[in-house]
Amino acid sequence: MKRLGFSLLLGILMISQSVKADEGMWIPMLLEKYNIEEMQEMGFKLTAEDVYSINQSSMKDAVMIFGGGCTGELISDQGLLITNHHCGYGNIQKHSSLENDYLTDGFWAMSKKEELANPGLEVRFLVSMEDVTEAVLKDVTKNMTEKNRQILIDKNMNSLIESSGKDNDYEIRIKPFFHGNQYFMYFNKVYKDVRLVGAPPSAIGKFGGDTDNWMWPRHTGDFSLFRIYTAPDGSPAEYSELNVPMKPERHFPISLKGIETGDFTMVFGYPGSTEQYVPSYKIDMTMNVNNPVRIAMRTRILDVMKASMESDPLIRIQYATKAARVSNGWKKWIGENRGLKRLNAIERKQSEEAEFRAWAENGKYDGLIEIYETEYNALIPTERIMTAVVEALNGMELINLASSSRGLIQYSKNDAPEERIQTTVESLQSKAKGFYKDYHQETAKEITKTLIDYYMQEIDQAYWPESLLDIEKKGLDKSIDKMFKKSLLANEADFMDFLDGYKGKYKKLEKDPIYNLYQEFVQIYLSELSPTYNTHHAVIDSLDRVYMKAQMELRKDKIFYPDANFTLRVGYGQVDHYFPRDAVKYKYFTTLEGIMEKDNPEIYDYDVPDKLRNLYENKDFGQYADEDGQMHVCFIATNHTTGGNSGSPVIDAEGNLIGINFDRNWEGTMSDLMYDPEMCRNISLDMRYALFIVDKLAGATHLIDEMTILR
Ligand code: ARG
Ligand code: GLU
Repeated sequence: MKRLGFSLLLGILMISQSVKADEGMWIPMLLEKYNIEEMQEMGFKLTAEDVYSINQSSMKDAVMIFGGGCTGELISDQGLLITNHHCGYGNIQKHSSLENDYLTDGFWAMSKKEELANPGLEVRFLVSMEDVTEAVLKDVTKNMTEKNRQILIDKNMNSLIESSGKDNDYEIRIKPFFHGNQYFMYFNKVYKDVRLVGAPPSAIGKFGGDTDNWMWPRHTGDFSLFRIYTAPDGSPAEYSELNVPMKPERHFPISLKGIETGDFTMVFGYPGSTEQYVPSYKIDMTMNVNNPVRIAMRTRILDVMKASMESDPLIRIQYATKAARVSNGWKKWIGENRGLKRLNAIERKQSEEAEFRAWAENGKYDGLIEIYETEYNALIPTERIMTAVVEALNGMELINLASSSRGLIQYSKNDAPEERIQTTVESLQSKAKGFYKDYHQETAKEITKTLIDYYMQEIDQAYWPESLLDIEKKGLDKSIDKMFKKSLLANEADFMDFLDGYKGKYKKLEKDPIYNLYQEFVQIYLSELSPTYNTHHAVIDSLDRVYMKAQMELRKDKIFYPDANFTLRVGYGQVDHYFPRDAVKYKYFTTLEGIMEKDNPEIYDYDVPDKLRNLYENKDFGQYADEDGQMHVCFIATNHTTGGNSGSPVIDAEGNLIGINFDRNWEGTMSDLMYDPEMCRNISLDMRYALFIVDKLAGATHLIDEMTILR
């Protein structure tokens, strides 16, 4: 290792001085300490206590986790909340049928009586958080093995939760920060009666579909409305007819004033996961191992789905959600790889590592980067196969049904009580019914063929499920055709008959060629891949913890923000245009004009509803038009966001709601690993467009009336 001169070290210190305002997902409890001054310099008019306080009601009391992976916020004193259309999608879909197709036509409850219950849907509000690092790491020593360390930490966390005394009113979660160098405990209030209030037609809420997904300029009206109900005394309660609309202490006022370049914006929500402090080897693996395998396999799946969906409107309905799910990751990873390449992300990390090495030489961190290198090199072959196995298992839809059938086989084999078997059969029947509703045999077969083909071409035979050897011998097409013909699972009538008359004869299912393929893949996963995979990932996790700590010691003057971990965070920045490529400038907002430009009844993603077209033609924008006379639809800003921030409130300098976050731009999707202030933008729905739809398109003026609107 070369020694670097003093001047270079000085250089490092100087670079690390400047904190980028737009980059970062900050801890609300620590704004006072680290951020508020800068936020105010950028235009923010409120205090840190206004954002997060445990002494009085504050902005955080209006922000919630919506369902399993989104954010939502309160917009009235009657428990009305807004989140994205794509976050409410599953629940809107559950209420939809051919007669009442709320996905296609939209849904608007014209009175509270018409609001629809959603069993299983929960929202969580943060009541307070606490730094519990000392208690969690109590008695942890440097020389412990990783395993013993984790056992002790788990024990400490459990006793913390037990002694916290907040019993049943709260859900308590402890989360690691900075790769396990810090821990916070969260007290959440969970509400379980959350009813659907309104959703625009998909042609508005999903306008642009997968074609425009991850892209700017964007015209998606991505919002839906729900309402929280509580017991009559205001406490959280399971669904009941006796429940009443929540009376929250806080909700967001909505500003119709309009937005300009340079305006302060803040995003307050639940970013899911980022990896800002990993070494070059991790970026290299993501770019050159994980992403290429995932992209290649999903390209194949999407090609099949697209052709099928275009051939038949029924298949389009059946595969719309599946295609959206597959496509969302696929497109993000393509963007991420391009962004990382453009940033020379690997080289940048390498030069940071060179500095680090020089600084660490002969000290306690000497050799850390080298261990990383060894570990990643050892991991990569397994990581590649693992990625392919996971994508194959998730990609072949029948595997999902096969895995749900596993329980029935186990119970039958072990002579479980008759009752147990009966309930298992019933739950499998209902699962299968839902499954076949969206199943098209030819499509599923073609996807299976193309994924198996990929696997046989790309993965060493040592990691093939046995069935693949046979497939290779007899030919792919013929073998898979036969597999589908013979399989119970692949044929709705056969499988339903089998379940209907089920008398404990599980052998037929256990020998099913598709069940078999599933079992073989699982076997490879468990015995050939997991041990190596888990061993190296465990070492890497512990290296990450040490490297994180070391980076903080090296760059003492830098204020670090922790990686996203689905806890409440504040991002702040400003409304801003960007230059995606040479000579092209993207404005910071889009308008209804752009929706009409895209309008094309032939293209599903761009089929504008007549009612919206009429409103446009009559320029009937009410109080929601911008000063420029146009109906603004979406806007972009430099807030650092990621998956989970969907539905997050976008807040102006006065603390009012101006938008709902729903996406990032394609040029900026590498921000989970490396943020670029020039290129990274979060995409938000302009609140004025959402209210315009509620008011003018749906005529749900009673909802507008309960909001606090500032002009
Ligand atoms: N890209 C956004 C996110 O990651 C929206 C996804 C839903 N929309 C879609 N067209 N698939 O969640
Ligand atoms: N659409 C994403 C979500 O569901 C947000 C986009 C992003 O990853 O930034 O959370």
